[in-house]
Amino acid sequence: MTNMVTSLAKDKSEMEAAYADFIARSPEYARTAALDQLRATEYCRLDEQGQVYLDYTGGSLYATTQVEQHLAMLRSGVFGNPHSSNPTSAAMTERVEGTRRGVLSYFNASAEDYILVFTPNTSGALKLIGESFPFAPGSRFLLTFDNHNSVNGIREFARAKGATITYAPLVPPALRLDTGRLEALLGEIDPAGENLFAYPAQSNFSGVKHPLELVAQAQDKGWRVLLDAAAFVPTNRLDLKAVKPDFVTVSFYKMFGYPTGVGALLIRRPVYATLQRPWFAGGTVNFASVQAQAHVLAPGEAAFEDGTLNYLSIPAVEIGLRHLQAIGMDIITERVRCLTGWMLDGLMALRHSNGRALVRIYGPTTTQARGGTMTLNLYDPEAHLVDYRRVEELAGQEGISLRTGCFCNPGAGEIAEGLSEEDMRAALALGPDVSLVSFARLMRNRGHKSAGAIRASIGLVSNFADVWRFVRFVASFRDQTRLTIGDVTFDIESCRVIRDGS
Ligand SMILES: Cc1ncc(COP(=O)(O)O)c(C=O)c1O
Repeated sequence: MTNMVTSLAKDKSEMEAAYADFIARSPEYARTAALDQLRATEYCRLDEQGQVYLDYTGGSLYATTQVEQHLAMLRSGVFGNPHSSNPTSAAMTERVEGTRRGVLSYFNASAEDYILVFTPNTSGALKLIGESFPFAPGSRFLLTFDNHNSVNGIREFARAKGATITYAPLVPPALRLDTGRLEALLGEIDPAGENLFAYPAQSNFSGVKHPLELVAQAQDKGWRVLLDAAAFVPTNRLDLKAVKPDFVTVSFYKMFGYPTGVGALLIRRPVYATLQRPWFAGGTVNFASVQAQAHVLAPGEAAFEDGTLNYLSIPAVEIGLRHLQAIGMDIITERVRCLTGWMLDGLMALRHSNGRALVRIYGPTTTQARGGTMTLNLYDPEAHLVDYRRVEELAGQEGISLRTGCFCNPGAGEIAEGLSEEDMRAALALGPDVSLVSFARLMRNRGHKSAGAIRASIGLVSNFADVWRFVRFVASFRDQTRLTIGDVTFDIESCRVIRDGS
């Protein structure tokens, strides 16, 4: 007991000393103190349970009052499916449409410029684009290596319609775009056809903020631009009067934690007219006949909202947006920047006694044009890769929530970890048995390459104690060998955790 009290007191004084140093280097952090108060009230379950949450890129956290307000709305009303004009339906329609206006206004988008489609998530929004974009032989789908698989998946629609698919490369180690090459690729366009350029405003792998200026630059050359904003909007302001992508995709749980199951696709009106929906469904038609086997799509967003919307959850989006507005996005951006800077410096400074680096960070190591997502691997004193799954397991034992694997962003991972096309073909040769586990094993045998990494991401209510505890956890690997670190007791396949015996 005495030992535990002494060790807690030592932790506290070490953290206080580190905090004093942090504040001296980042005095701007003091301006974000409102978030500490918010964490103590609205998110107090984090500290009550001793949780260090570092998976904000996976999903943000919700405030208690968001859930309470939503519950109060559900408790107080009688709400029906919004497809009719009866009173309960009309009450729901009013809330759904109010939320739609609220989302447009949050992104400073006017209803004259944009149509807002509610979707289940970002992937649902991206699939709508993929299946309805008028790809054709001669048209191009240009996308960056750094993209979520749900954007990569659009290439299957493009390929099926005969379009040419091209990837714009990243430059290691910072994993930013090769601007010269991208410029050249943007120039390779036949503007007579419909061509799509897709990139993420912020990488879910490296945290790189790719330039928003690319939107206008590509549009000036005749491209339609898809900006995947899923990893950007949780900690940055997106102003659709300043940048006007043809498509924008977001998931609301990534912005404010609750509700899950609702995302959005914003479509600029001129491109909307060119889209071709490959089918129709309940709710998307003004008229459909069985005998004549014909249908007439409904106008506007209705043509893209298949079946019944997640109507009871949609009003919780408006509550979440109001919550972010009350905090102020600038404060969130500033706090994330300060904490990211300290965490990067803290991790980079960690060395084994023999002088070798303990941590390798994939992506920028300064806060310039990057967000709070950090992907890294740990190495032992002999420079052998530490199994990232074991790191996740040990972190979990300390109440630290990290994400490991490849984060559905294979392109950034391939470049970051120096994996070649031959490596990837060797993996595909494994046939249906290929998984992240078998792939990682194969890569270890092909020259000790890593296939997968650890991701720590900072967000809405992160604080100094979170990043301090993470850096201290990573420092505990100093001078540890594979023998002392031990072996992992679970596997991760297709993003599902498989424990021994389960
Ligand atoms: C940049 C990016 N795009 C798309 C997605 C897919 O989002 P969802 O799983 O909500 O469809 C994610 C999720 O992490 C992401 O970070």
